[in-house]
Amino acid sequence: MQRLIVGNWKMHGLAAQLQEISALDAALEADAPPATAVMVCLPATLLAAASGLQLSAVQLGAQDCHVRAEGAHTGDISAEMLADAGAVAIIVGHSERRSMHGETDAIVHAKALAVRRAGLVPIVCVGETLADRDAGATLEVVTRQVTGSVPDTSESLIIAYEPVWAVGSGRTPSRQDIAEVHGHIRGLVGPSASILYGGSVKPANAADILRTSHVDGVLVGGASLRAAEFLEIIRA
Ligand code: PGA
Repeated sequence: MQRLIVGNWKMHGLAAQLQEISALDAALEADAPPATAVMVCLPATLLAAASGLQLSAVQLGAQDCHVRAEGAHTGDISAEMLADAGAVAIIVGHSERRSMHGETDAIVHAKALAVRRAGLVPIVCVGETLADRDAGATLEVVTRQVTGSVPDTSESLIIAYEPVWAVGSGRTPSRQDIAEVHGHIRGLVGPSASILYGGSVKPANAADILRTSHVDGVLVGGASLRAAEFLEIIRA
């Protein structure tokens, strides 16, 4: 089965950093790992420039979008605009959006539908906080988020399980815990969706995580910014 390795640059990257994308693409073109698809979700400011690079091995994605296609929404960007700029997928419902921008499951669901309206694939993020986990509520919280924010699986869909406490912290759940949550999500959404793990994925832990059951790939933040480090994860 194909593995999907997705980078999430978050609010990082000036034009000069596009050379990391070129270097990544060149390295993968020269030596592509089998059955592995690679995508980088860039800030909107870099997306159009990156699509001008004529990449062959790296797909481009975006981060967040407005629910509407156009309108009087100063500062917002629609899924249609991101498609126009070269994105094939958009991350929605990332925990940083849920916590810092108050995005509810209903908003995330509407955004995921907007992504599809634009002909792109939604990457919907879910995951529990440390307090949820300590309270033994992980599966309950993830169930609520999946039920409330993930659209139907009749069209392409990617779900990223990202425990909030693992994002950017250097901590990861055990493989057993990842397998438990991924298996649970699989039971909720069925066989067709891809389920990625995200949260402090590094070259040192990527192989183990990618070997865990029900893990179809990984969503990588900090370690995706430099081509050399991201390549180590892809080759894992
Ligand atoms: P991280 O971020 O790899 O830096 O922990 C993952 C994410 O937030 O998507």
